[in-house]
Amino acid sequence: MPDDVDVVRIFDTTLRDGEQAPGIALTRAEKVEIAEQLAQLGVDVIEAGFAISSEGEFEAVREIATSVRGPVIASLARVTPGDIDRAAEALKGAERWRIHTFISTSDIHMQDMLRMSNNQVLNAIREGVELAVSYTDDVEFSAQDATRTELGFLLECFKVAVDAGATTINVPDTVGYAMPHEFGELVRTVREAVPDRVVISTHCHNDLGLAVANSLAGIVNGARQVEVAVNGIGERAGNCSLEEIAMIVRTRGQALGVRHGLNIREIVRTSRLVSMTTGYSVQPNKSVVGSSAFAHESGIHQHGVLSNRATYEIMDPLEIGLEGNRLVLGKHSGRHAFADALQKIGIELDQEHLNRAFARFKELADRKIQLTDQDLAAIVAEELGSAEQDLLVLESVVVGGGTHLQPRATVHLRKGDETIEESAMGDGLIDAAMGAIQRAAAVEARLVSFNVSSVTGGSDALGDVVVQLDVEGRRVTGRGVATDVVEASARAYLAAINRALQVSSAEGEKITP
Ligand code: KIV
Ligand code: ZN
Repeated sequence: MPDDVDVVRIFDTTLRDGEQAPGIALTRAEKVEIAEQLAQLGVDVIEAGFAISSEGEFEAVREIATSVRGPVIASLARVTPGDIDRAAEALKGAERWRIHTFISTSDIHMQDMLRMSNNQVLNAIREGVELAVSYTDDVEFSAQDATRTELGFLLECFKVAVDAGATTINVPDTVGYAMPHEFGELVRTVREAVPDRVVISTHCHNDLGLAVANSLAGIVNGARQVEVAVNGIGERAGNCSLEEIAMIVRTRGQALGVRHGLNIREIVRTSRLVSMTTGYSVQPNKSVVGSSAFAHESGIHQHGVLSNRATYEIMDPLEIGLEGNRLVLGKHSGRHAFADALQKIGIELDQEHLNRAFARFKELADRKIQLTDQDLAAIVAEELGSAEQDLLVLESVVVGGGTHLQPRATVHLRKGDETIEESAMGDGLIDAAMGAIQRAAAVEARLVSFNVSSVTGGSDALGDVVVQLDVEGRRVTGRGVATDVVEASARAYLAAINRALQVSSAEGEKITP
């Protein structure tokens, strides 16, 4: 591809819009780990969060801004002074940073949500963008619900934002309502209405399954930034999927006349990390990163691929980092080999997390002969997801029961110097173990979702359990990995409770845009 083709910037919002998906609540360590991986992948912009939304979110944006190098780091902010000041405060340690400010512009949002007139919205945009520009010359303005906004007014909003100094104008299809031909035309109209130096961006939601198609229509019509999330996660049905748009541009860039600067070998690793930390699994037939995306079932296809891969494959799985599941370590491996193996799969941990992950690795390696790179990634995901300081630690879980004997579980939890023992009966072994933990932790918890998978294939695979709980009105997730599925479930359940206990003592309610 010639060097002079246009570049489409990749703006990743996994940590902001992605984290707004129901039930996702990442810890600070998980957010930093994901941001570092996004930098490896080579995204142009990382939207690290919505700094004003909570104390924890502010700290996460600040840590990413100060520690992650490469991409521009952005924070979302409404067009109000408090939001913009807070975003600037969180971002100021970054090498390069952007304030992404927004307000709704459709009649329905302005009348029924904001209770603001057109003039009030225009003034708020002017003042907000001017304030943002006083902090940084990289300012993005988004007109929320742009696709349901009266066109004349939308263009007026964008003109005010550009005159006030915005350098990127974003056209969100907030409710996923647009169709590709309509969205493409809207982007072209906006492109023609604003000066060439201003970048036009898309932000498409997937309510009708059109987020990728709409983003592509935006590119074809002049957008040079696309807002995406890894695995397409986000509010409701999610956002435009990073890996799909990345591989469309990579595979069909000639036809589109554009390219991006992503290091696509990191795509699979990024997708797995986000899936493991959020607990959102990837559907098997998802394009590019689904487990069946490169599986050939029919004999004719298998025969074709064996003689020439290109007969039925338009992308090379090795090019996106899809390698076999390598056996890497066993119980005799030391800390150094462990850190080294993690580094080879792109995971670097601070000393504290490394120590904790190594201790878990040793426990598991004692029971499972050899661990693969996927096992290691799952162990790390469990450790990163555990509360920064676990209040309750699982010492043991013992279960009994069967077809004619009601299942019963006894757990021992350590809380500081004290050991708490509790037992419970349940509908099954897992239910009994969770009941016993709930009693020992003395909290009201309701199981919202339970997801069990095996990290690798085979009967000796590690069980990987992700639960979502409602703990006294707060949604939290927890992950547990173990050689036994009851223990993995107990660990996941307790991790969620620990997270709820920690979050409720550290911060109040989080605001979402
Ligand atoms: O969907 C949306 O409109 C958003 C904005 C805040 C950009 O997420
Ligand atoms: Zn959105």
